[in-house]
Amino acid sequence: MNPAPQPQHAAPRSPIHGPALPIGLAVTAIGILLSIATAPVATSAERVQAIPEPVLVQEVPAVQVGATVAADPCSEPVVQEAIASADDAATIAGFGGGESFRAAVIAGNAPCVSLDDPAHVWVVVNKSRPLDPVDFAPASLAEMPLQMTTASGRARADVAAAVGVMADAAEAAGVGRIGANNGYRSYDLQVRTHATHVESRGQDQADAASARAGHSEHQTGLALDLVACSPQCGGIEAFGATAQGAWVAEHAWEHGFIVRYEQVGTGVTGYQPEPWHLRYIGTELAAAYHDGGFHTLEEFFGLPAAPDYAH
Ligand code: DAL
Ligand code: ZN
Repeated sequence: MNPAPQPQHAAPRSPIHGPALPIGLAVTAIGILLSIATAPVATSAERVQAIPEPVLVQEVPAVQVGATVAADPCSEPVVQEAIASADDAATIAGFGGGESFRAAVIAGNAPCVSLDDPAHVWVVVNKSRPLDPVDFAPASLAEMPLQMTTASGRARADVAAAVGVMADAAEAAGVGRIGANNGYRSYDLQVRTHATHVESRGQDQADAASARAGHSEHQTGLALDLVACSPQCGGIEAFGATAQGAWVAEHAWEHGFIVRYEQVGTGVTGYQPEPWHLRYIGTELAAAYHDGGFHTLEEFFGLPAAPDYAH
């Protein structure tokens, strides 16, 4: 299968470090300064002849540091139609793209969008944001077209298709096959999964590695845990150190996924790093997340950190 088309993006920037410098401009400027500094001293006649041709600076796209927020995007007919048909990609496009969508949500200018609704790619589930309803189950699920290491091989159909395309792209890039350990986990399975962690590690360590039932992204059908499968499938814990893990960290966003629990985000998410746990947010939001240099979904949507449960 062909990899998904890659959208046009502004240069990456970090919320901490600010916008990245246009590299082309910086290199050109350094080159001009060096040529001035190292030029031999010329006579006045030579100076006239030596006047260089004007240097044409290549056009560099402007860095997008924010997006214009439409006055009332939810009143736009195209958005209303997309919301009514539960077409998340069309809704985000109707807002003007991922960054405009994010800006509208943060500005409180998107009453037709709820970050609590587990049926949408923009849902945020964490230790202080349980699923609503707590025993939510996706309307439909499909088998992921990946080699599996457990029987929990389903995800939402759009997620299953996207991870299949991503795995093909990884293989085409030469890093080997990607398989999966877990996709969708029901409320009841999450109860058992978390209980197993508590039994083996105690409550605190369990809560740093496994979500309590009703708080797991796996229950939305939007999350999955990857393994490397060349030639044999390894475990999730080994994934980050594999060629597949390195490729996924760099390219998952191109396929609509983010690595949800990064080392840098532990203070916000309350989870130890999980380079294997991918969360689908769709290609538009994933591009905005990547271009903005974000590392947690909470920061992306301007939500409070959620390192602990309330009780
Ligand atoms: N391991 C992640 C946090 C989960 O259980 O959903
Ligand atoms: Zn996971």
